[in-house]
Amino acid sequence: MGQNNQKSSRRVSRGPFDLEEKEMRDLGYKAIDILVDRWTSLRAQNVWAGGTRKEMEAIFRQHPPERPSSSLSVMTEAVEQVLTRAARIDHPRFFAFVPSSPTWPSVIADALVSGFNIFQGTWLESAAPSQVELVVLDWFREWIGFPELSGGILTSGGSAANLNALVVARGEVDELDRAVVYCSDQGHSSLERAARMVGIRDCNIRIVPSTQKYCIDLDLLKKAIQKDKASGLNPKVVCGNGGATNTGIVDPLEGLAEICQSENLWFHVDASYGGFSVLTQEGKTSLEGIELADSVTLDPHKWLFQPYEVGCLMVRDLQLLESAFRVTPDYLQDMDLGLEHVNFCDRGLQLTRSARAFKIWVSVKTFGMKLFREAIQNGLDLVRDADLYVRESDTLELMADASLGIVCFIVNPRGFDLNKEELEALNSAVLDDIVESGYAMISSTKLKGQFALRLCVMNHTARKEDVLGVLKTIEMTAERLATCE
Ligand SMILES: Cc1ncc(COP(=O)(O)O)c(C=O)c1O
Repeated sequence: MGQNNQKSSRRVSRGPFDLEEKEMRDLGYKAIDILVDRWTSLRAQNVWAGGTRKEMEAIFRQHPPERPSSSLSVMTEAVEQVLTRAARIDHPRFFAFVPSSPTWPSVIADALVSGFNIFQGTWLESAAPSQVELVVLDWFREWIGFPELSGGILTSGGSAANLNALVVARGEVDELDRAVVYCSDQGHSSLERAARMVGIRDCNIRIVPSTQKYCIDLDLLKKAIQKDKASGLNPKVVCGNGGATNTGIVDPLEGLAEICQSENLWFHVDASYGGFSVLTQEGKTSLEGIELADSVTLDPHKWLFQPYEVGCLMVRDLQLLESAFRVTPDYLQDMDLGLEHVNFCDRGLQLTRSARAFKIWVSVKTFGMKLFREAIQNGLDLVRDADLYVRESDTLELMADASLGIVCFIVNPRGFDLNKEELEALNSAVLDDIVESGYAMISSTKLKGQFALRLCVMNHTARKEDVLGVLKTIEMTAERLATCE
């Protein structure tokens, strides 16, 4: 509890929403106590909690109250009722989708930003926070090997960064009817959505098949570009994967850069998932060629251990980013302090935006880069352990080589001789069983039409016994369920 708790209580100002100083402190200390209790007992808690719409409606459907209540009791009850009825994404055994496990200083930093209510759309209103964003972006620029004149912006996430990238890549809008965007069948759905949102016709969004290893097929891409050119279309943008969501695979980035250069196309790399692995030697090697892109999406709320929401778009030619977004209305004329004073509203959609770099800055300064590199390496090592375990198992079968932090496999117990439908039914029953048990959370996908279980290891608190414990539980569950059938 806070030491100022006993101070005499003052009212800080006279607005209708003011609380007594003591109540303010009590509420804040209580929030910290709740969070620290949650964090320190996370490993012992169930990974998943949820419920049906009907159950949630029954609990939460209420009219807003007319009269006030005690802030402490409202918050305590709201945490208990709302925040605990959700998956614990930062649990050491949350391996579903793309996990996120923030550091404590970044969580507190985000709360402080909220309390200071920083408006980081213009330099005039947020000089130091804007400078911190410039510095953090410059760290990212160096990590991905972009030249000095490039720059970017922090966004709400990878989807927003991909959308902003296509706004810049699209360029002039006059001939949009004929513009074509290419990505592999392993590209993230946000790319297709972004292409639609910037006005690319559905029939001009090319989903290029991937190879057996799930990388974009460069020959098929080249053929598609030639075919489109021959039929009078205007190939515009190629999107490569810097760690595909399904398998973690990285597309041949150097090959894509070469094609884009010779065909004069914009080369975007979606490295939302895998980008920060460049901080390790292994990741740097996997992502070779990222430095040749025209734009890159990164997602600090994934593998840079930041709380939601923070993504990032880096653009090689900063001028292009700013000319795509800058608008100068009369009522913002005061914000023009000269070009060196960056107004981040000139680099993306949002005018009102939070100081997202602050949490990154605080956590990096607290822990230092060595610990960040080790935490990313931990994920890479654990997935290698998982890959090895699956290869040696009599019950599990690898569906794709493990890449970055992802491994895809199925349960296929030896001696049961299951057909495709039976296999899919067994695998999805295993998935449901594991999730409902609360012990771990994993997810599934389809690879070339085949059902696959998928583990994504990104959490800095995950240990070898967590990953192997989950794989062993999956094996035992599969054998139990297969025997019951
Ligand atoms: C490769 C890739 N791109 C884009 C996204 C979307 O990012 P966000 O959820 O931050 O919008 C994801 C999310 O998992 C991803 O894995």
